[in-house]
Amino acid sequence: MIKTVHVALGTRSYDVEIGPGLLAQTGARIAPLMKRRRVCVLTDETVASLHLEALRDGLAAAGVAMEALALPPGEATKSWPHLQRAVDWLLDQKVERNDIVVAFGGGVIGDLAGFAAAILRRGVRFVQIPTSLLAQVDSSVGGKTGINATHGKNLIGAFHQPSLVLADTAVLGTLTARDFLAGYGEVVKYGLLGDAAFFDWLEGQGPALAAGDMAARVEAVTRSVQMKADIVARDETEQGDRALLNLGHTFCHALEAATGYSDRLLHGEGVAIGCALAFELSARLGLCSQEDPSRVRAHLKAMGMKTDLSDIPGDLPDAAALVDLMAQDKKVVDGQLRFILARGIGQAFVTSDVPREMVLSLLEDALATC
Ligand code: GLY
Repeated sequence: MIKTVHVALGTRSYDVEIGPGLLAQTGARIAPLMKRRRVCVLTDETVASLHLEALRDGLAAAGVAMEALALPPGEATKSWPHLQRAVDWLLDQKVERNDIVVAFGGGVIGDLAGFAAAILRRGVRFVQIPTSLLAQVDSSVGGKTGINATHGKNLIGAFHQPSLVLADTAVLGTLTARDFLAGYGEVVKYGLLGDAAFFDWLEGQGPALAAGDMAARVEAVTRSVQMKADIVARDETEQGDRALLNLGHTFCHALEAATGYSDRLLHGEGVAIGCALAFELSARLGLCSQEDPSRVRAHLKAMGMKTDLSDIPGDLPDAAALVDLMAQDKKVVDGQLRFILARGIGQAFVTSDVPREMVLSLLEDALATC
């Protein structure tokens, strides 16, 4: 059941392998990349307690030795102190230019370990072994690495492509339902931005996928990664099309900031709500029919996901404050808010041409239901 998606980036090309049981094959799949049979693994304490021994066994099966550093779980780990700890540890382990660093965890570990690999000895190769759905379909692919600054999320980083991505879909079985569904927000995003047939498929298969159907999980991850690989191959450093991957994110980033990047709203939940708002805005601007946002919201609701601002616990700031938070997004260009809007399901495009009053009234209406 293992699928392969190739990310075509010339000399920086690599494969993303997707399917159940890949952890047990890690050594055999990594060995061709190695000069000496030893890897240094950066992970978090939660993933380590659940899966590190399986990874160790999978590496040992091909005679690959492993050292590991487990950092605390959570977004706060994407910071200078933990980056310094990771880099110092890699140097203590005498990692050389030809060695491989392994990022074993969700998006936080993938971003931090990838950045550590990017700056260590001016760049060492790394392999992503993503363990969350969000990391498997989004953050482990495409080479965005980095940490957060006090000024905002992901403001310090580098593009550094992995040499291989191993997405073991069996590992998704240990995610909480909430974390799984948050990752599913990014899966839905792919259908909405560029593949109406995939969105149709998700409407039918989403419940089975969430319930654990492995074939459906492999298919959903593979189609998502294929879309991301195609976009990244066209626009590695986000000069154009790659911005499409930010569908729902302008709203999401404002909501995450408004909720203090806390447990009140996970990133993928914010993406789902943001996608629903982006489609509502598109309909109000006459770009797509009113049926499209209704269909988006109906699917998110059917999956038991957060869909509306009223699904976020606690108070939110008013519409003007939310628009101000959007203006602090790092994707703002020349002070212009940038949105990903849609001419229909699967037909997203990037624009800065959205009147502020339209966004304000959309958010006022959305907040009125809270
Ligand atoms: N997560 C968006 C991107 O990789 O461009």
